[in-house]
Amino acid sequence: MYYIVYVSASTRLLTENELKAILIENELKNRQNDITGLLLYSAGIFMQVLEGNRVSVEETYQLIRKDIWHKDVIKLSEGNCWDRFFTDWYMSFNTRYPQSFAAYKGFAEPSSILLPAKTPTPGIELLKIFLEGSLLFNDVYKGVTVGAVRSKFYRTFQ
Ligand SMILES: Cc1cc2nc3c(=O)[nH]c(=O)nc-3n(C[C@H](O)[C@H](O)[C@H](O)COP(=O)(O)O)c2cc1C
Repeated sequence: MYYIVYVSASTRLLTENELKAILIENELKNRQNDITGLLLYSAGIFMQVLEGNRVSVEETYQLIRKDIWHKDVIKLSEGNCWDRFFTDWYMSFNTRYPQSFAAYKGFAEPSSILLPAKTPTPGIELLKIFLEGSLLFNDVYKGVTVGAVRSKFYRTFQ
């Protein structure tokens, strides 16, 4: 098993409909490629862990890097792992309409994701920090400029 974790910045703030399109498209692709993991989006920042066989994970990452929806894609961590941490592939973001997203396969509300205190890889550890940060941003980010939010994350992760 292999994993890659990256962070990136969306080219602009995305609407809930655009996030929904990313969810639907990638849930299907990842299922076909036997890739599991978690894609988080908060306030213009993506963070994703991809897990699977090494070739599929690396090929998917190369496609992701070229995608014009985002920029500044930075790989944070990669390596071998004994087993998958996630059973399926999920995407998670704060939404004003959680009921409407509940029907979509692969959607997880940020508050429903439980990452254990002791995580197996540095990648999952980073994801946990981001998740905790994005739960907080739900309440506070509206008053903050996107640039400030991004630079806070890049300071945290570089
Ligand atoms: C933030 C973000 C996350 C993405 N995650 C995945 C993913 O997990 N799996 C995947 O196959 N494509 C993912 N993509 C999509 C790919 O970058 C790209 O759209 C797609 O793989 C291109 O394939 P195609 O040109 O063959 O349609 C992601 C794109 C973005 C912007």
